[in-house]
Amino acid sequence: MNKFAGAFVVIGLAASALAGAAVAAPPKGDPALGKKVFMRCVACHAVTPGAGVKMGPNLAGVVGRKAAAAPGFKYSAAMQKAALKWDDATLDKWLTKPSAVVPGTSMAFVGIPVPADRANVIAYLRKPVP
Ligand code: HEC
Repeated sequence: MNKFAGAFVVIGLAASALAGAAVAAPPKGDPALGKKVFMRCVACHAVTPGAGVKMGPNLAGVVGRKAAAAPGFKYSAAMQKAALKWDDATLDKWLTKPSAVVPGTSMAFVGIPVPADRANVIAYLRKPVP
């Protein structure tokens, strides 16, 4: 009897832990898939810390950071004035059409039309998988 009661408690706890996790963290992009999308960015961006600047700034740690904050890169005046913080929402808009978010930006990139591609590449920026 006691054994059964114990089992029910354990199952109940596991179920509520799962429910809690589902509410707290809805599945976002997949970093492994995002690595493939990032092929469209590698000509201009490194994402490894210390890898330096290419045609664009190093993107290591960019998620959660203020715009125009990577060391050693000369941002456009438009980006320096943008007062943006890069999170899922601002990155999603930016990667849809950079020139719409920061008119006058020097990032000559047309945008990523497919929402899942954007979500995946943002997940990759958050967690660059090897
Ligand atoms: C043709 C080169 C080029 C390509 C391709 C490109 N970028 Fe950029 N990117 C830039 C430049 C240049 C800037 C700086 C813009 C400015 O200062 O206005 C920039 C800025 C950024 C920023 C803001 C960085 C910061 O520190 O504020 C993010 C985020 C970003 N790019 C992500 C991407 C992603 C993701 C891709 C691929 C989907 C991509 N870029 C493709 C050149 C490029």
